[in-house]
Amino acid sequence: MNMQEMIDTAMALVANDKGLLAMDESNPTCNKRFAKLGIPQIAGARRAYRELIVTTPGLSECISGAILYDETIRQQKKDGTPFVKALTDVGIIPGIKVDTGAKDMAGLPGEKITEGLDELRERLAEYAKMGARFAKWRAVITLGDGIPTRGCIEANAEALARYAALCQEAGLVPIVEPEVLMDGAHTMDQCCEVTEEVLRTVFNELYRQRVKLRGMILKPNMVLPGLTCPKQESVDEVADATVRCLLRAVPAAVPAIAFLSGGQSSELASARLNAMNVRFKAKLPWALAFSFSRALQQPALEIWKGDDANVAAAQKALIHRARCNRAACRGEYSPAMEETAT
Ligand code: 13P
Repeated sequence: MNMQEMIDTAMALVANDKGLLAMDESNPTCNKRFAKLGIPQIAGARRAYRELIVTTPGLSECISGAILYDETIRQQKKDGTPFVKALTDVGIIPGIKVDTGAKDMAGLPGEKITEGLDELRERLAEYAKMGARFAKWRAVITLGDGIPTRGCIEANAEALARYAALCQEAGLVPIVEPEVLMDGAHTMDQCCEVTEEVLRTVFNELYRQRVKLRGMILKPNMVLPGLTCPKQESVDEVADATVRCLLRAVPAAVPAIAFLSGGQSSELASARLNAMNVRFKAKLPWALAFSFSRALQQPALEIWKGDDANVAAAQKALIHRARCNRAACRGEYSPAMEETAT
C-alpha cells in the first residue's frame, strides 16, 4: 500500500470544491427507479443511462469522482470505450461500490447488516486492476421503537472498519458510509444523538483496525428530522446541528466529509450543504462536500425516461445539479440558481 497516493487521491476527490457523483445503484435499486418511470429494467437500459451520465458535457468541472457498480465498471459506451476510460479521460476518478447490500439482521428485527466481506480482498484487487482508485461501503441504521440497538451499530461499525482496512491494503481510498435513515417520525435531536453514537462507534473501530484516517473519506447523513416528523427545522438549523454533531465525533485527520442525500429533495440537499459551508467552512478541519446519488441524478432520470431523444435535456439537468452542489461547497449556492436554470 502506498499511503501517500491514497492521501493524494482523497484530497483530489474534494479539490477545487468539487464532489462525488454516486452512480452505483445496484441493479435492483436502479430497476426500482426505472420501474417508477416506465423505463425497461434491463442491462441495456441501465447501460444507456450510465452512458448519458458519463458523457455529460462539462461534468468534470464539478465532479471529481464517480462511484460505479460491479455491472457498470465492466460496461462500455456504445462506441466501445469502457466507462472507466471515459471518466478518466475527462479527469474524473473512478470508484466502486463493494458491499453486496444491507440484509435483515438475524436476531435484531427491523435492523440491517451490510454484507460483502467474503472474497473482498480478491474483489478489491480486481477492481484496482480495472482502474478504480476508491471504494464505497454503505451501512444502514434505522431509527424506530427500541432501535437502533448496540448490536446493530457495533456489527455495522466492525464491518465498515474491516472493509476500510482491506481497501487501504489494496491501495484504494475507502469511503466509509454509515447512513442513519431519514425514514420515520423521529426528531432532529434524536437523529443527532444516534448519528453521534454511530460515528463515535465507527471511528473507534477504524482506530482499532488501524485504518489511516488521512486516507479515507467519511460519507454520513446530514442531521435531519425524520420525513414524517411534524417539526421540520430550517436550513440553517439543520446546518448547525449537522456540523455540531460532526465536530463532536469526526477526528480532524479525516480530510473530507462527503454527504449522502438520503432522499432529500435536490434543492434542499444543496441548500443545506451550502448553509454549512457559508457558516462554518473557514473554521472546519475537514472539507464538506457531496457524494449524492438521487439529489444529483433524479431530475435527469425523470427527463430521460429511457428515450434517446431526451438525452441532451437530461444531461442539462444533471450538470445543473452538479453546478448547484459545487456552488454549495463554496457557500455560493442560492435558490436563484434554480430559477435561472428553468
Ligand atoms: P443518495 O444520495 O441517493 O442517498 O445515495 C447516496 C449513496 O451513494 C447511497 O449509498
